[in-house]
Amino acid sequence: MLGIIVPLLMLVMKIEAIAVSSGSFNDDDTARHYNSRYSIYDESYKVDFRYHNHTEMHNFLRKTSSRYPNLTALYSIGQSAQKRDLWVMVVSSSPYEHMIGKPDIKYVANIHGNEAVGRELMLHLIHLLVTQYGTDDYITWLLDNTRIHILPSMNPDGFEISKEGNCEGGMGRYNSRGYDLNRNFPDYFKQNNKKVQPETEAVKQWISKIQFVLSGSFHGGALVASYPFDNTPNTLFQSYRSQPSISPDNDVFEHLSMVYSTSHTKMHRGESCSRTQPGFKNGITNGAEWYPLTGGMQDFNYIWNGCMEITFEISCCKYPPANELEKFWEENRVALVNYLAEAHRGVQGFVIDEFGNPIERASVIVKGRDIKFSTTKYGEFWRILLPGNYKLEVSAEGYSPSEIDFTVIKQHPTLLNVTLHSTKRVGENGEQNQQQQQYGHGINNQGVRPYPHRDYSIHYHPNGATNNGQISDNSNGILSSISSGFNSFVTNLFG
Ligand SMILES: *[C@@H]1O[C@H](CO)[C@@H](O)[C@H](O)[C@H]1NC(C)=O
Ligand SMILES: *[C@@H]1O[C@H](CO)[C@@H](O)[C@H](O)[C@H]1NC(C)=O
Ligand SMILES: *[C@@H]1O[C@H](CO)[C@@H](O)[C@H](O)[C@H]1NC(C)=O
Ligand SMILES: [Zn+2]
Repeated sequence: MLGIIVPLLMLVMKIEAIAVSSGSFNDDDTARHYNSRYSIYDESYKVDFRYHNHTEMHNFLRKTSSRYPNLTALYSIGQSAQKRDLWVMVVSSSPYEHMIGKPDIKYVANIHGNEAVGRELMLHLIHLLVTQYGTDDYITWLLDNTRIHILPSMNPDGFEISKEGNCEGGMGRYNSRGYDLNRNFPDYFKQNNKKVQPETEAVKQWISKIQFVLSGSFHGGALVASYPFDNTPNTLFQSYRSQPSISPDNDVFEHLSMVYSTSHTKMHRGESCSRTQPGFKNGITNGAEWYPLTGGMQDFNYIWNGCMEITFEISCCKYPPANELEKFWEENRVALVNYLAEAHRGVQGFVIDEFGNPIERASVIVKGRDIKFSTTKYGEFWRILLPGNYKLEVSAEGYSPSEIDFTVIKQHPTLLNVTLHSTKRVGENGEQNQQQQQYGHGINNQGVRPYPHRDYSIHYHPNGATNNGQISDNSNGILSSISSGFNSFVTNLFG
């Protein structure tokens, strides 16, 4: 099944990929050699369908990295409040180095400690990717052209106190200090006074260091793919019914959600988990339309980092008995792999100067989609887009801005190199700096990239949202506190 789904797309992308390759992928011989070399160990390299506690999970990841040193790398992005490492496994044919021109993507599971299915599925996904490399063409192509970072548990402390068989409730949902980590991120729309937790800080640092192009976050308690925005601007009259909060990339988010829900064996049917929950057309929903929340991770990924993140609710029961894990794996297996390939859709390229040197931190905006993103230190950029005609606005300090028309087609990503011409003569730096500050859209000292331009009625500047409560909560008013009371009620019911 996996090999059949995108063979045409694959072939074309392979050719395209060679054009921007840094020469770091394996040829077919290496891949075959790799697989045969390890076949003698494959019997003992497996993941059981049962829950793995923190130690067992770590052992599996370590075993994987020693079995597959050329395909995996294990690193910790920091520690939980109770000092458990937040382990990330990279799976790629270039696990130790970013492949220039190729996207880095991520999966994050178990942000709510008692939503345990995603955590286990991440281990099975890692196992699938490393064992199928060199055998399954699609997976081989994926690992040769993408670096996949997998954080199986963002909330290991919560998981340790959660109980198998508990389908509902909040025990283990929060970190060990009682914070909901999916309410702990800076928020563009509303002030978030919650004290930043170590798990959240680790993830924020992580995504500021690596320019992730695509991301998925795994939850339980419902069956739906939920996309940004999760939050809504304050309006004069707060409505009791949840309204959709539509982002400028709504078409892309709907598409990405549909890729997952239609590749999932059940999600696309949109059946509700219980009488108290809604059903969802095609198994997808706008986050705020379901219920608005402040401080969520997916809006933060998108608004601050230009990374497209979707929240996947993959089990009606938050922590189902282990004997159901195999069923969940079969439901999600194809979707988990298909979603990752979406990083290769849209436009990608380099911003360079007239001498061919990369320009770091150039600002890139697809006209009409106000979320700004920035080039990496190699001058790279990526943007997931559906087929159509677009205009790219590229600017960087010391260069004349440039606008380029381009077309995106379905079959493969559009490669676009943008050359900017210097306006700078030696010694004129001071003036440039001033200009950047004038709009307040530069990257501040926390690496925070604010969301520019949109004229929402009332919003807090992201700088306010990241502080420790210096800005008092004075413009929310009583209507808003009614609605946030309602939100936290709904939140406790669902994922
Ligand atoms: C984790 O599981 C292993 C094997 O079942 C067990 O020996 C160990 O005590 C567990 N660790 C914790 C902290 O529960
Ligand atoms: C990893 O790749 C290198 C270079 O391609 C090769 O020399 C080495 O044998 C490989 N290691 C393993 C364990 O396959
Ligand atoms: C785009 O620029 C990159 C980096 O400078 C280069 O490797 C690549 O060949 C260029 N691609 C095209 C299509 O010009
Ligand atoms: Zn959740």
